[in-house]
Amino acid sequence: MTERIYNFNPGPAALPLPVLEEIQADLLNFKNTGMSILEISHRSGAFEAVLNDAVARVKSLFGLPDSYHVVFLQGGASTQFFMAPMNLLKPGLSADYVNTGTWSTKAIKEARLLSQNIHVIASSEDRNFCYIPKNIQFTSGSVYAHLTSNNTIKGTQWAEFPDTDGIPLMADMSSDILCRPLDLSPFGLVYAGAQKNLGPAGVTLVIIRQDLLDRCRVDLPSMLSYQTHVSKNSLYNTPPVFGIYVIQLVLKWIEETIGGLEAMGRLNEQKAGLLYDFLDGEDFYQPTADRDSRSMMNVTFRLPTVDLENEFVAAAQKQEMGGLKGHRSVGGCRASIYNAVALEAVETLVSFMKEFVRTRG
Ligand SMILES: Cc1ncc(COP(=O)(O)O)c(C=O)c1O
Repeated sequence: MTERIYNFNPGPAALPLPVLEEIQADLLNFKNTGMSILEISHRSGAFEAVLNDAVARVKSLFGLPDSYHVVFLQGGASTQFFMAPMNLLKPGLSADYVNTGTWSTKAIKEARLLSQNIHVIASSEDRNFCYIPKNIQFTSGSVYAHLTSNNTIKGTQWAEFPDTDGIPLMADMSSDILCRPLDLSPFGLVYAGAQKNLGPAGVTLVIIRQDLLDRCRVDLPSMLSYQTHVSKNSLYNTPPVFGIYVIQLVLKWIEETIGGLEAMGRLNEQKAGLLYDFLDGEDFYQPTADRDSRSMMNVTFRLPTVDLENEFVAAAQKQEMGGLKGHRSVGGCRASIYNAVALEAVETLVSFMKEFVRTRG
């Protein structure tokens, strides 16, 4: 086996090789501290520089004005499913949710534990979540409208976001954050577990706008309050130091090596285009998402039989391509081609798929 395989894992997922190499090179003596990043104080100047740089890079990549705050929390995106409604839905207030798959369904379930006023205003459940709903009517007066920007399991993604008539959008961007240029001005809150497009598992990025922060409850346990974490710049308690450090390196890689979000978006379009064009040209492989709802990050497809799918995944693994099995809840195959998955990996996958259909099709 070569040292590193082509990694199509859905998350935790591939990290950029230069980032891994930098971590390796700096591990024993981080910035001349004589300690590794795993051993230094979160209150040290060396770590605060990392944290502040990560915050600044999120802001510069998205072009965020000062009214947006960036914090790094723990508990995964799953904690945001309840933390957001807990903070924002004071008694009597309501929120809109769009259901586009497993993760949206979970977000709705958690929100309903905290509020009786959760409106599911659109859903693609009628066709097994293979599309992104259109022509959505939002409920006037809702505090926010929640959606999942990329559906990791079903392989769908919002190509553009709906006009909410002024209701702040809230998005779970766990599986497509920073995959393309995006105007965040309609968004009041964005969250993303890091382990797909940003860094390692164990840290969650939250971006919150001042007007939503002002509406948050203050009578919450400190760790569950956005106001705590914003006012303390993610340093209320010991933050996930190593995760934030890796995120900072990944952000630097996007900005300085890739060339920013325009370039990142072009590269992701090229990768996804290559794979979808190939799938569309072969009856043997059937993409599962509607064409206009396809994800650039998670490409889901079926083969004629489950046996062939199993054979496909095993044969790919033998050729050093990992992570192609679909989510256990849906079966089939899935290639997760996040930011850090190189074009070369997708080209290699397509060559393998051509050969597979030639011999088994
Ligand atoms: C879109 C989306 N939201 C939420 C989650 C759950 O994230 P976490 O494991 O960080 O709680 C996932 C995990 O795969 C996901 O893909």
